[in-house]
Amino acid sequence: MAKLGVNIDHVATVRQARGVAEPDPVTAAALAELAGADGITVHLREDRRHIQDRDVELLRRTVGTRLNLEMAATDEMVGIALKLLPDCVTLVPEKREELTTEGGLDVIRYRSSLKDPVELLRQGGITVSLFVDPDLEQIKAARRLGADYIEIHTGAYCEARDPGSRRIELEKIDNAVRAGRKLGLGVNAGHGLNYQNVREVVALGGIEEFNIGHSIVSRAVLVGMERAVREMAALVRGG
Ligand code: PXP
Repeated sequence: MAKLGVNIDHVATVRQARGVAEPDPVTAAALAELAGADGITVHLREDRRHIQDRDVELLRRTVGTRLNLEMAATDEMVGIALKLLPDCVTLVPEKREELTTEGGLDVIRYRSSLKDPVELLRQGGITVSLFVDPDLEQIKAARRLGADYIEIHTGAYCEARDPGSRRIELEKIDNAVRAGRKLGLGVNAGHGLNYQNVREVVALGGIEEFNIGHSIVSRAVLVGMERAVREMAALVRGG
């Protein structure tokens, strides 16, 4: 049965819109865990647009499931991760001008700048996952770099507008899951998934954990965090 990692970045987005103390992503994480989340994910961005250092520090002390820190492979972020020791670090590409992460890491191109961060984090006892597009060569490169996991970028599937291209993108995810597992990698998936499109990806099988943020936080605004997480957890577990 697949697991659900709840990304709470956008609870912090609402807080930062006013520059006040609420809503607190730390409280949101506790509610998500009470509702059955298997893990909590936050992305500490270089520009600190949503999650703040204080959030990650408190989450490290309060999250009782697993804390997954998404971050760029910079010296600053590696230092923070080695100090706080999240259970998992997911390395993502990061551009200041983007609204959200726009694509997977180009592991082939940036191999040399990813090598040290991956090694340092793993030596620190942190599980390392690389966020990659569903592309066989990128997955092989992630394996060669020594990653423990890949997280497959599901954005292109989620954005496909017609059934034909949607099927093609789903097939790419399916092939990527199989390739990753065959290479001995753990396989997670995420980005753009919601209460409608997650079913088909769950049905592929082989994905250990889904990392889902925007759609859960959006639903939580209307129906509450616990119900939003419970409903997504049921879908991810194949309900
Ligand atoms: N996985 C990764 C690597 C991401 O960067 C994000 C967005 O922060 C997510 C999953 C969650 O995406 P969404 O908010 O679209 O569910």
